[in-house]
Amino acid sequence: MEQNQIIDSLNWRYATKKFDANKKISAPDWKVLSESLHLAPSSYGLQPWKFLVVQNKETLKKLTPLSWNQTQVEDCSHYIVFTTLNKVTEDHVKKFIAKTAEVRGQQPNDQGLMAYQDMMIGDVVKGPRSEIGKWWSQRQSYIAMGFLMQTAALLKIDTCAMEGIDPKGYDDVLGLTGTGYETVAAVACGYRHSDDKYQTMKKVRFDTSDVIKFV
Ligand SMILES: Cc1cc2nc3c(=O)[nH]c(=O)nc-3n(C[C@H](O)[C@H](O)[C@H](O)COP(=O)(O)O)c2cc1C
Repeated sequence: MEQNQIIDSLNWRYATKKFDANKKISAPDWKVLSESLHLAPSSYGLQPWKFLVVQNKETLKKLTPLSWNQTQVEDCSHYIVFTTLNKVTEDHVKKFIAKTAEVRGQQPNDQGLMAYQDMMIGDVVKGPRSEIGKWWSQRQSYIAMGFLMQTAALLKIDTCAMEGIDPKGYDDVLGLTGTGYETVAAVACGYRHSDDKYQTMKKVRFDTSDVIKFV
């Protein structure tokens, strides 16, 4: 891909306010989008998240008033709610280590893996960062959000990040209470409506030299 194609896709993307409810993301495109979430990086690789693709129409209807009545919730093709661990647990770290051993063909009690496990537990479960585990997990999820939105833009699929929601209300509707996961934000994915006036608005960004400094 040429450099200018990447910049074109960054300019093409905008926070879509009005989706065309008749246009749906194809299965092959959805596969790519879901891999952009699946392959997103996270600190230590711990993936403290679950991405809920809300398909049930009744559920989406309940989420709309919990989303400042924004129409994207029901009109987009795939509405993805980003949820993260409210506390990083020893079990979660052990699950990750077990997966690592499986994928990389290591013994489950491999010395290096055990040392890595103890180090992570000593940090995010019991150590200094355990106090901010919830915020730490939430921060990771914004990386996945960025991956999703840029991958979508490369495929000419529209998105809107949605923080204008009531996370606690979402937790209730989605049955998250007691699961250890809490709603952070959402991303609506689909196709812009031809009426959406925001698509022609110029991007407002501070000058590059104002925000990027070589120091
Ligand atoms: C984390 C985050 C949350 C956002 N929440 C909303 C939202 O709830 N509703 C909305 O219409 N736009 C939302 N936006 C879109 C921003 O307003 C938009 O990205 C910003 O104004 C820049 O415009 P652009 O994305 O069109 O370039 C959100 C963006 C981000 C990154």
